[in-house]
Amino acid sequence: MKPPNLTLVIFGGAGDLTHRKLLPALYNLHVDGLLPDTFAVVGIGRREFTDEAYRDFAKDGVQQFSRRTIDQARWQTFAAALFFINASIDAPDAFPTIGARLDTIEHERGIPGNRVYYLAVPPAWFVPTVRQLQHARFVAPTDAKMFARLIVEKPIGRDLASAMAINDAIASVFGERQIFRIDHYLGKETVQNILVLRFANSFFEPLFNQKYVDHVQITVAEEEGVGTRAAYYEAAGALRDMVQNHLLQLLTLVAMEPPYSLDADVVRDEKLEIIQSLRPMEGDASDAYAVRAQYGPGTVDGKPLPGYTSEAGVAPNSRIETFVALQVFIDNWRWAGVPFFLRTGKRLPRRASEISIQLKPVPPILFNKNPDKRLDPNVLTIRIQPDESFSLGISSKVPGTRVEIRPVEMELDYCRAFASSSPEAYERLLLDVMLGDATLFMRRDGVETSWKWITPILNRWTERQDAPLPAYPAGSAGPVEADRLIESTGRRWRSL
Ligand code: BG6
Repeated sequence: MKPPNLTLVIFGGAGDLTHRKLLPALYNLHVDGLLPDTFAVVGIGRREFTDEAYRDFAKDGVQQFSRRTIDQARWQTFAAALFFINASIDAPDAFPTIGARLDTIEHERGIPGNRVYYLAVPPAWFVPTVRQLQHARFVAPTDAKMFARLIVEKPIGRDLASAMAINDAIASVFGERQIFRIDHYLGKETVQNILVLRFANSFFEPLFNQKYVDHVQITVAEEEGVGTRAAYYEAAGALRDMVQNHLLQLLTLVAMEPPYSLDADVVRDEKLEIIQSLRPMEGDASDAYAVRAQYGPGTVDGKPLPGYTSEAGVAPNSRIETFVALQVFIDNWRWAGVPFFLRTGKRLPRRASEISIQLKPVPPILFNKNPDKRLDPNVLTIRIQPDESFSLGISSKVPGTRVEIRPVEMELDYCRAFASSSPEAYERLLLDVMLGDATLFMRRDGVETSWKWITPILNRWTERQDAPLPAYPAGSAGPVEADRLIESTGRRWRSL
């Protein structure tokens, strides 16, 4: 099914996200024939781009970041649909000017007025931009023939109160069904496959509960440091930047009950229940189960790397965490007593995101009798990136006349199995917004419930500002405190 003809209006149209992700994703959708028959992409920003210069900017983004190289004929038709409006969204006459230009573009291209507004701007601009959209009458009422939809990037707030304030302001202009809050992890192919793996196979689902699962590990490790994003990161840190959204979303997909349908709200209701069932981490519980740390100087392949506080734009006395490890419990019948270990950090040894579901050991009889040589428990590992795959760790007899048992891996490598590259997360997400499917987007209650759970940890860290902040060398697997967290339960992190 193709989306209806529409205009995608990107506030922050000359920004980094648009350059690296959105324009390459749109180009790939175009190549796949998935965009509407008639469409326009209109970037809005402070850069003094003509439409031609904007097309060059887009081409550069596609050349650098697209999963496909440029096909000249397809590029021409795509580029013809790109436009740029130079405007500062806080200038008094900005929106009338933008409106007039959009009307002209839509009239010339025969687009009926369906619009998707994308807020690819810093969060401080979310509310003012939405207010201006309302003021300038850019938002068709929900019952109108034409639609207006809004895409909001993270971060939505920095704690529960600020998230609610942003959501309230947006809700005074757009109905919940018009709002698409992006968590780009939900657009990743391997992440979408979690539900398929669980609910389209009968192997796994019967095992996904406290009777069989010993514990679950969710790791999102990044090799990169803070890079050029210190201004944002200094006000965020790993808990806000990664855990509140991406890691909790992965957790919901692993732990949720089977929804009775794939309807967006049914799926999101089930995910919400998991967040609501998270055991609160307040006060002492936060001290015991939440580890934060910051990377110090280190070396990778003999190359020295600076510590976080020596990165450009970072305060020399910054206490922002670049690593978080948590032990969390889901207090429902299915998962009672099963610990979920979450960890994420920057400047870890390599980029590796994976979920591993570790089953309980088989009883200490038969092949598992020898206390000095216990069998490895079975593990299901979902590798989200890179090298998208999933594998099952099982025990097998080594061929021979004696009974010798060894752990082996059964692996499904996406690339080899399907012989095609996976679409980028933003391809799927942009397409879904155009089609009006909100399944892979965050509903308001989901965002706020996550913040409600995260905020006490943040508060505790603020209260304990004088407590020493653990450090780990750049390029290492994280602080010893994170090892202690899991090892105190008799388990170990999977190696990075
Ligand atoms: C973003 C965070 O949401 O996700 C970044 O703000 C992080 O700090 C990024 O680097 C990781 O995304 P991915 O898709 O590269 O794993």
